[in-house]
Amino acid sequence: MTDHSDEGLADAGSGRSMGHVALHYGEPAEGPLAARLLSTIGLVETQMLPLPGGNFYRFVVEGRHFARGDGIVYLSALPEPQRKLVDAIHAAFAVGTDNEHDVVKDWREMMTADPEASFHFGFLLESLEDLEQIVQALRGDPELKERTNIVLNRPRPGDSGIDARLDASPVFEGVTRYAYGRAGVQAFIETDLLKAGQLGDSMVVELDFVFPDHAQHILSVVEL
Ligand SMILES: [Fe+2]
Repeated sequence: MTDHSDEGLADAGSGRSMGHVALHYGEPAEGPLAARLLSTIGLVETQMLPLPGGNFYRFVVEGRHFARGDGIVYLSALPEPQRKLVDAIHAAFAVGTDNEHDVVKDWREMMTADPEASFHFGFLLESLEDLEQIVQALRGDPELKERTNIVLNRPRPGDSGIDARLDASPVFEGVTRYAYGRAGVQAFIETDLLKAGQLGDSMVVELDFVFPDHAQHILSVVEL
């Protein structure tokens, strides 16, 4: 049985980390723009292997992971059988048309209400300024702006220092969506450059920042 006691949690560092995630872009020609998106959100490209079906990329979450086996994001073109599967799903449910099946509409409605309700992954940043600069960079890049939709969450109000910092933020000022918890912010980047979502047409990547010195925050305890 999993040991959730304080002692058990304190002793949890026994040699594992999140290793890698494999992402795909759609058309081979979109590889460079998909790679630019990952670079813009702060990943470090360590390898680009040109292949006939589209470039293969290796990224790491930051430079110190260069020669490690964790903190890796692979990016390559959708393999042909998966492309065919996605095409068949789209045809069956009229995805992307005005006549999408109700199950698709309901799923989109859920994702609009809460971008982290389904498969996604998140990066934790140690600087709010970094996160703000990334959001501004995405908004300032004409091609990436066209291919991304950014949704922002603030922590629940109540901490005057945090509230004041975010009210003065070029990115979080005026945001009225709230995270499931305290003392942190979330930026959800939905993009159709990455095809790992359930419909194979987009996916969501999350960037998080947690204000320091808070024992309880959005990523430590979920609050509804
Ligand atoms: Fe999340």
